[in-house]
Amino acid sequence: MSELKAIFILFTTFIIHFAVPTVNAGSEFDLLIFTQQWPATACKEWKKHNPSHTCSMPKNSETWTIHGIWPTKMGMIGPAFCNRTWFFDPEKIRPIEEELLQKWPNIYGGTSEYALWSHEWAKHGTCAAILKPLNSELHYFQNGLEFLKTFTMTDILEKSSIVPSNTEKYTISDINDAIKERINKNPVIECKVEEGGDNYISEIRICFTKELQLTDCDGVVTRNYRNGGILTNCHTTKGIIYPQYKKYTWYVELYKLLTWLQWFTL
Ligand SMILES: *[C@@H]1O[C@H](CO)[C@@H](O)[C@H](O)[C@H]1NC(C)=O
Repeated sequence: MSELKAIFILFTTFIIHFAVPTVNAGSEFDLLIFTQQWPATACKEWKKHNPSHTCSMPKNSETWTIHGIWPTKMGMIGPAFCNRTWFFDPEKIRPIEEELLQKWPNIYGGTSEYALWSHEWAKHGTCAAILKPLNSELHYFQNGLEFLKTFTMTDILEKSSIVPSNTEKYTISDINDAIKERINKNPVIECKVEEGGDNYISEIRICFTKELQLTDCDGVVTRNYRNGGILTNCHTTKGIIYPQYKKYTWYVELYKLLTWLQWFTL
């Protein structure tokens, strides 16, 4: 009996000493990356994977939306999935759901409207939750909305005359300077390369300390993509496209039908 007790004590001591510290160490981080995405580029990528894909755009498709708030340890990606039993519960964000649908939308048509939130919460939110202002699901998502309100890239870029266009191209320095001028910290600028090698701006990341103060994003990524002092994966000499979302409205559809009918009846 006492032997069994001893084994039990040894076993629990083992668990406490080895298992628990590993969990804690794995969830430590240095700062938060706040990522905004450009819906038109995200939609383009989604359709590229499969032509039958559709996008579920926010009402205002000319606005940067939230991708997530990501706790990050210098020089590494993550931590992630810090509590695998803390599941996303749609009831918790009910009070801000309408706002989230516009400002933190899942643009991937045909997938659950909760798919992005549930993923961001499970992967990043459960790690961010050790910080008091982000210590619940509601607080995590509310904080994202606050960050967006204060640092929306739509306004920051527009103040330097960088606006969505399908004809104009911008240089990576134009974009980086515009952001630095407003927040005085180094951001990370991400592009997607499309057919023909064109670079489309896809994400802008800004960084915060654990006290939620803006800080430089230097050192947060493992990939070495510092180009001429700018943290980016975009092509540094080619122009970058900040695309407008093309909506086909009923009159465009009608026009297409009419031209087709005209050809058909000739
Ligand atoms: C994980 O989340 C569950 C559900 O909210 C909670 O009860 C538990 O205490 C959490 N575990 C840790 C280690 O924080």
